[in-house]
Amino acid sequence: MLWIKSFHIIFVVAWFAGLFYLPRLFVYHTEVKAADTEGYQRFCTMERRLMVMTTIGMIGTWVFGLWLLSQFPGYMKAGWLHAKLTLVLALSGYHGWLKTRVRAFAEQRNTRSAKFYRIMNELPALGLLAVVILVVVKPF
Ligand code: HEM
Repeated sequence: MLWIKSFHIIFVVAWFAGLFYLPRLFVYHTEVKAADTEGYQRFCTMERRLMVMTTIGMIGTWVFGLWLLSQFPGYMKAGWLHAKLTLVLALSGYHGWLKTRVRAFAEQRNTRSAKFYRIMNELPALGLLAVVILVVVKPF
């Protein structure tokens, strides 16, 4: 069980590295000058590669998280678990949205501003804060 939990946490860290850094890359990508095609393409490559690592992190988090859950059938009735899973679903949706943005930049059809990505960049931090408190403190 402790092995499963260790790998669950390792994949969570890999997932969040991407959730934190991808929107930050979008901020810098938005600010690249129109004439700098080489700079623009370099960001596309970084985003595509980071997206792959982030997706591996998300899949591993779900696989090891659900495996861990199968070891604690009593948790299925716990309020904190329901709240945690709701937030994790929202974070998975955010992940899907990041993927659509990577594609939009690759196809040169991003219309959002750097300020917009700066604001979106704060959401995963709030998710992380809430999920870790829910799973460790188990307040309800
Ligand atoms: C993908 C769906 C997920 C499922 C089904 C899941 C399920 C679980 C379960 C059953 C435990 C064991 C709790 C215990 O031993 O008391 C656990 C531990 C943990 N989970 Fe998740 N989890 C998921 C996603 C996440 C995410 C996204 C995060 C971080 C943002 C996270 C962070 C943690 C941490 C830090 C622990 C260790 C808590 C402790 O040992 O006190 N989990 N998870």
